[in-house]
Amino acid sequence: MRLRYAALLFLPAAFAFPHFRGARDTAAVRDVLATLSQHPELMAQITSLQQKQQAELNAWKAQSKPDPSFNSTANQPQRRDEPNSVEGLKRFPEDEFPFIPPSKTDQRGPCPGMNALANHGYLPRNGIVNVLQVFEAVDRVFNMAVDLAAFLTIPALVSNGDIQTLTFSIGGADPRTNSLGDLGGILGTETGLDGHGRSSEGDVSATRCDFYLCAGDNHNMQPELFSQLLRVAESHSSPGETLFSVPVMQEHFHNRYAHSRSHNPNFYFMPPSGLVVMGANYFYPGFYTNGTFAPASGGLTGANLASVASFVGAKIGDDGGITYVPERIPPQGWYRRGFPLNLVETLTGILSIYLVPEPVEFGGNAGSVDSFVPGSGLLPSNVSGKDGLGCFLYNALYANLAGEFENAVFDIEGVINSVLGFFGPATSTFLSLQCTPNYPEETSPDRYGGFETFLKATEKLPGAPKKQACLDAGAGHLECNSQTNVYGGSS
Ligand SMILES: *[C@@H]1O[C@H](CO)[C@@H](O)[C@H](O)[C@H]1NC(C)=O
Ligand SMILES: *[C@@H]1O[C@H](CO)[C@@H](O)[C@H](O)[C@H]1NC(C)=O
Ligand SMILES: *[C@@H]1O[C@H](CO)[C@@H](O)[C@H](O)[C@H]1NC(C)=O
Repeated sequence: MRLRYAALLFLPAAFAFPHFRGARDTAAVRDVLATLSQHPELMAQITSLQQKQQAELNAWKAQSKPDPSFNSTANQPQRRDEPNSVEGLKRFPEDEFPFIPPSKTDQRGPCPGMNALANHGYLPRNGIVNVLQVFEAVDRVFNMAVDLAAFLTIPALVSNGDIQTLTFSIGGADPRTNSLGDLGGILGTETGLDGHGRSSEGDVSATRCDFYLCAGDNHNMQPELFSQLLRVAESHSSPGETLFSVPVMQEHFHNRYAHSRSHNPNFYFMPPSGLVVMGANYFYPGFYTNGTFAPASGGLTGANLASVASFVGAKIGDDGGITYVPERIPPQGWYRRGFPLNLVETLTGILSIYLVPEPVEFGGNAGSVDSFVPGSGLLPSNVSGKDGLGCFLYNALYANLAGEFENAVFDIEGVINSVLGFFGPATSTFLSLQCTPNYPEETSPDRYGGFETFLKATEKLPGAPKKQACLDAGAGHLECNSQTNVYGGSS
């Protein structure tokens, strides 16, 4: 552990990207991904975390702990009888990582987990982070498996960050990620995680506003949305024991979807960001639960109010009023889950959020709330196999990651092949799913090709993914010039 902690202090050496010229075209994306897959420090980190997590999982099973393996019939990990036991689990907060509220120049953004990690110094407190630090921190504090971490982080790096230094901002665009000056990121502005409609941030978030509903504030926790979530949780819970379970998140998500679609003229809900948003709902019970969470079919377990409020930064006053405060690990003590939350469990969680009580439609509003343009058919209703959600997401993520870049239509297949090459040695989960890239040839509206059809049809409509609009600077969020990544409003 001491050795691994030391890695936190280390910045990867600037890596040579021979073909990078700041050109925002397919060839540049492909070259960058191919080069990234050869990055020695990055690949070594992924391999070493994978081995460590596999050993921890084996040890967990060897103690005849409840079997966390995936039940493909139920689309749920198997039920365990004592889900909230904290015996043998790692306790937080740790003395060496004290909570310190962020300063005005520290970046914080739409993801409460990342904000909490930065507020405790597991990630650099300024919110400018590199991928290796993220892999390390999410493993250490949340027990996030590296396949899931890579799946969330690599697209964020490529679409929102600085490839040369493997660095991105966990909040808004920031010159501190900008190693090449005015050239900006490979896709233009290095927006940070705040970048709307790129891979990581999308409409219908549990506690954040839609980008176009709050004048661009898609990153601060909204007390009104937390209050809505809390009311749903209370309606599902016994008095005095408010739990944020899977059924709670299902209901809240469907409420949020209905509200956004009927109020946001630029509503946009498509993979990959739509899937990431649903996954983030599952993370409430999956990660914030005090002790290991068992998402049994009945969904009776989950995170308690004290844990959730602390992690998402909801301070509840004596009068019940809610204010947004910096996210932190529950100061009274909290235990992380006992085995890694991997990609397969996440996909199961996404499906359970999406399917109940009934699947929502993908698509977007074309400039007014009565102009919904359907994006595609339903998600596969199971996880595994080459027609399951895993492979669907695998394809849709990288297909749309490319499609969403500055509204350009890239040579998508080439990009996917590069990403496949990147993940090949790293993510055994994907290998076992035996995905083959099948984008964009599929033409049925129910298949992956539906997304490209949608993107092409809506490219010029307001509902299509837009460039990140730049905001006035303020409240600790440095904002950008969308073309040059230059600050202060010039050029
Ligand atoms: C898997 O889930 C199905 C459906 O809920 C259930 O009938 C079956 O017993 C489960 N299998 C195991 C091994 O728990
Ligand atoms: C988590 O569980 C431990 C042990 O039961 C308890 O001491 C602690 O207060 C709990 N923390 C939260 C945030 O509920
Ligand atoms: C999973 O879904 C696909 C279609 O998307 C279907 O062909 C396959 O049989 C399903 N597998 C199971 C185990 O239900």
